[in-house]
Amino acid sequence: MFSTRKVNSDYTWVGADRRRDAIFEGVFPIPHGMSYNSYLLLDEKTVLLDTVDASVKEVFLENIDSVLSGRELDYVVVHHMEPDHSASLMTVLDKYKNATVIASQKALAMIGQFFGREVKSIAVKEGDVISFGKHSLKFIAAPMVHWPEVMMSYDAEDKILFSADGFGSFGTLSGTLFSSEVDFERDVLDEARRYYTNIVGKYGPQVAAVLKKAAEAEIEMICPLHGHTLVGKDIQLCLEKYTLWSTYTPEKSGVVIAYGSIYGNTESVANAVAAELCERGQEVRVYDLSVTDNSYVISDVFKYDRLVICAPTYNSGVFVKAEQFISELVAHNIQKRKVAFVENGTWAATSGKQMAEMFAKSKDMEILDTKFTIKSSSNDKAALVEFVKNLL
Ligand SMILES: Cc1cc2nc3c(=O)[nH]c(=O)nc-3n(C[C@H](O)[C@H](O)[C@H](O)COP(=O)(O)O)c2cc1C
Ligand SMILES: [Fe+2]
Ligand SMILES: [Fe+2]
Repeated sequence: MFSTRKVNSDYTWVGADRRRDAIFEGVFPIPHGMSYNSYLLLDEKTVLLDTVDASVKEVFLENIDSVLSGRELDYVVVHHMEPDHSASLMTVLDKYKNATVIASQKALAMIGQFFGREVKSIAVKEGDVISFGKHSLKFIAAPMVHWPEVMMSYDAEDKILFSADGFGSFGTLSGTLFSSEVDFERDVLDEARRYYTNIVGKYGPQVAAVLKKAAEAEIEMICPLHGHTLVGKDIQLCLEKYTLWSTYTPEKSGVVIAYGSIYGNTESVANAVAAELCERGQEVRVYDLSVTDNSYVISDVFKYDRLVICAPTYNSGVFVKAEQFISELVAHNIQKRKVAFVENGTWAATSGKQMAEMFAKSKDMEILDTKFTIKSSSNDKAALVEFVKNLL
């Protein structure tokens, strides 16, 4: 059965939720599922804003059908060509044969690459405006948020920003549409952060550039391709968070302790560091890198200002789970954080030095001189206190 939500009198959400997949795009756990958003405008012309992932194509088609209720589809705007939003494009175009695709030149080239065919299209670039009657969309180039072809668009009539992957979140909508229908800050923000930091976190300067352009417009609603339509105070909240995240500025004072451990000795020092920090009033988050997916830890590293990574030496290198974590973190362009290491080794503990070297290419990471070395196990409270003091 179709299920749609009215955004306002002229726009309707025709997207869908998916709860069956454990992993998004082959990498990110989605324990709360995922929404694939698409919006349909009924004006003098009818306009579909993006399509959806193949997994939810059937209900999506029913949704469009129910909203059009017999009208033709005139246009399909493609803000982003990644298949989670465009996999059902050809099905839509085959069904609504008169529809014209509106997209950036780069997106149109990608349509050829993905589908091997030409489509009836209008290419748009930064600043172009296309009118559909009462409403028109002004296009804003958003390269690398999350792919190079991405465009956002702005409806000046209703003051809506269609933000593509920007301002998206993991998690389903489960009947809600507006951020005001949930406690967004309490229940959604963490998954919005995990989504942003892992998916677009690497492209901070590009996100900052788009934010600057968006700041010129009056915005009453942000409609992303995943997650809630932002309204009211949640718009300001997310704009503020995006300003911090895109400039790699910590949100909070606090220490993320991420450890890898085979037999538990590194783990017990990690716990002791956590306790000592808490004793001194610090906010602390502790993660076992063998258990918690990197996306959660990376999200918290973007949130807090300090990081302790603890790892055994492993075949003369760094314990594999910590090594993977650091390389992902570096790939996400992490900056402006203080980092310290706890190393462990039974015959030659080298993991601390090697972890520090892994951050060599990172900008603006302050590697603290202090290092805690464990030779198999440790009960050296004085060394621990010294290490923790250097983290304050
Ligand atoms: C596969 C494997 C490779 C290891 N390679 C090294 C090494 O190259 N150098 C070293 O000093 N210890 C090495 N170790 C030993 C661990 O680093 C050491 O026992 C450490 O104390 C384990 O810490 P944990 O109790 O937190 O697991 C290795 C252990 C394993 C299982
Ligand atoms: Fe994307
Ligand atoms: Fe997406």
